[in-house]
Amino acid sequence: MSYSRYLVHRRLLLHLRKCPSVNTSTSRLDSQKRLISTSNRCRTVMPAWVIDRYGNNDVLRFTRNAGFPVIHYPNEVIIKVFAAGLNPIDVSMRGGYGAATLSMRRDPLNITQSGSEFPLILGRDVSGVIMECGLDVKHFRERDEVWAAIPPWKQGSLAEFVVLSANEISHKPKALSHIEAAAIPYVATTAWSALVNTGGLSKDKCANKRILILGGSGGVGTFVIQMLKGWGGHVTVTCSQNAERFVQGLGADHVVDYTAGPVEEPLSKLEKFDLILDNVGGDTERWALGLLKPWCGAKYVTLVTPFMQNTDTLGVADGMMQTAATVATKALKHLIKGVHYRWGFFVPSGPALDEVRDMVDAGQIQAVVEETFRFSQVPQAFEKVEKGHARGKTVVQISQDGE
Ligand SMILES: NC(=O)c1ccc[n+]([C@@H]2O[C@H](COP(=O)([O-])OP(=O)(O)OC[C@H]3O[C@@H](n4cnc5c(N)ncnc54)[C@H](OP(=O)(O)O)[C@@H]3O)[C@@H](O)[C@H]2O)c1
Repeated sequence: MSYSRYLVHRRLLLHLRKCPSVNTSTSRLDSQKRLISTSNRCRTVMPAWVIDRYGNNDVLRFTRNAGFPVIHYPNEVIIKVFAAGLNPIDVSMRGGYGAATLSMRRDPLNITQSGSEFPLILGRDVSGVIMECGLDVKHFRERDEVWAAIPPWKQGSLAEFVVLSANEISHKPKALSHIEAAAIPYVATTAWSALVNTGGLSKDKCANKRILILGGSGGVGTFVIQMLKGWGGHVTVTCSQNAERFVQGLGADHVVDYTAGPVEEPLSKLEKFDLILDNVGGDTERWALGLLKPWCGAKYVTLVTPFMQNTDTLGVADGMMQTAATVATKALKHLIKGVHYRWGFFVPSGPALDEVRDMVDAGQIQAVVEETFRFSQVPQAFEKVEKGHARGKTVVQISQDGE
């Protein structure tokens, strides 16, 4: 839908909402409404992929009648989605992952009439154009091209429109298409939170630091390799053998094949590291912290944490207590050995994406899109992500208007 058509629809919708008592059978409004209805029904609804319950891929349902997003707060914007990136969390959320915690964070104004989170729209990455701004939005205007990572407690980007806060969005890099741009925000903001906020790295504090990325060939890994190389770090990566050349092409200095045997053996022969980012989890914690330089402020940051599983299985209060106890015990255990143990989490951030955009514009980061799907192929896109062994990102093209 073009911007001008969008405006006609929205103005009419607002007018209709303000005038509930108008006799639409005889009024001028009625003729206007019918005029629009012939081509595109009055926009209280939009096309989207939704789920109405948690489960496997069968729960994904396409509808033309998903609720149209509404600006509830003055700092919000409505974005027309051109492309939506998928992440492993979308597959997990489809199955109910994090339902307890996320339900607690959902805005009551956005809870549907049924009183539950359903119908729920997945999709955490968006690249698109702003159609409407709340009254307090200062740094963005209608028609600006933007990208964003959508918090998992908000409706996602597998829809024609999405509403977000202005502090969650950023102007999209001009050099990237919408499809390319939709491959970056969620992994970039996760990496920023884990490496900068938790790991203490920055563009001025990374030169010659030795960093190990466990699981370097997927969405997070392919972004992090480029970001750290852009900042002058020395990057070692683990991945399977058939991804070695791929990650070297992104800048990895040293690659270790985890499928060739216990990966800790070749890693332990290398010079020790200043920081480890763990995208793999499982038993990596058993040996990975021994690869850090002791008593130098070196940190291990894992993205694979039991936080959501704890709240899903134990309830929010007990789950949080269990989580706090687990992380405190582990942090203390490793602190007395001279290394720091941390958990990393996705944090939505427009300002972080501004910094990433500068790196993209400077040619330091490129989008790594493994496969693109059409809007009609969302279930196939989920199947692709679910199979694992990603080599970059899976993106869904929602609209061709922006290309
Ligand atoms: N805490 C948070 O807020 C947060 C945010 C984002 C992501 N995450 C988590 O971080 C992890 C990575 O995310 P992602 O988007 O990068 O996932 P992804 O795109 O699926 O990539 C994961 C990659 O890890 C590789 N891998 C699997 N097992 C491995 C092993 N034992 N050693 C080395 N590499 C291995 C796989 O490649 P091969 O083909 O080489 O096996 C795969 O491509 C996921 O578990 C995700 O849930 C957490």
